[in-house]
Amino acid sequence: MRRIAVLTSGGDSPGMNAAIRAAVLRGIDKGLEVFGVYNGYEGLLEGNIVPMKRKNVGGIIQRGGTILRTSRSDRFKLEESQFEAIRKLKDLDIEGLVVIGGDGSFKGAMKLCEKGLPVVGIPGTIDNDISGTDYSIGFNTAVSTVLDAIDKIRDTAYSHEKTSIIEVMGRGAGDIALWAGLCTGAASIIIPEAAYQIKDVITRIQAARERGDKDCIIIVAEGVCSAEEIKKELQEQIQLETRVVVLGFLQRGGTPNAYDRMIGSQMGAKAVDLLLDGNHGSMLCVKDGKITYSPFEEAAKEVHEIDMSLYQLALSLSS
Ligand code: F6P
Repeated sequence: MRRIAVLTSGGDSPGMNAAIRAAVLRGIDKGLEVFGVYNGYEGLLEGNIVPMKRKNVGGIIQRGGTILRTSRSDRFKLEESQFEAIRKLKDLDIEGLVVIGGDGSFKGAMKLCEKGLPVVGIPGTIDNDISGTDYSIGFNTAVSTVLDAIDKIRDTAYSHEKTSIIEVMGRGAGDIALWAGLCTGAASIIIPEAAYQIKDVITRIQAARERGDKDCIIIVAEGVCSAEEIKKELQEQIQLETRVVVLGFLQRGGTPNAYDRMIGSQMGAKAVDLLLDGNHGSMLCVKDGKITYSPFEEAAKEVHEIDMSLYQLALSLSS
């Protein structure tokens, strides 16, 4: 293998740049020519592929987002697009690919592998919802960003004795909401993995008020419903006036913390080693605190599970 490429796909996450940097530098150290694909699979289909030198990855480890930019590509789900992508790489004699992204990105990566292209995946999404790995790059930073925002909201919520409803990301997974809820002592945490009833939220708010809590935080993962819907229900049912904050992209951007730079760097370098050792068709993962890898198929088999004991702990600590 003499030429490889790197791309980022799906939602960006802090630490992706550390992974890109490590893959490029490790590739160069191993005597490879490394290319960057701009805009994920969309860019691959358009042939938006450029050589990456050391200077292209200088000063990026501390930057959030992805310098290669990213996309969500519907047309890449088509077989003809996958063959076209392989042709685009073959035109440049690129024989291996590193894909940094989430579960949707890995489905695409698997399709490329099945068609004969060596691919290695690196889990990168703030949602932390990829099966087969305990961790995906960006989650730790995103949670810290959410905590920082909630701590500020609490100062003013306390001062005015207001209830605040914070909507966080997590389309199908409640990890961000759960961690943020436990780490801020939220009165109620609404996640896709636990059935939610407005009467329970009301009970918890009332208990918090009876205890004398001056502020009250409710966290909802956007995959369940919007914070506005909860606000409306609380207004209708108990005439409670609340404030809504939707954190949105604020929690996806920002400087990656040490952990995400560390995992990104380790995985970026390891991805190149796996390609060179012929261990492609696999995704890097964190298992029991160690970086390892599993075949894409095996990773896809497992179901991402949230730690419900943390949910129970969060509830008990804020009752
Ligand atoms: O990156 C994952 C994620 O943040 C999900 O939590 C969210 O549902 C989705 O991306 C929204 O992303 P976009 O607004 O870019 O479509």
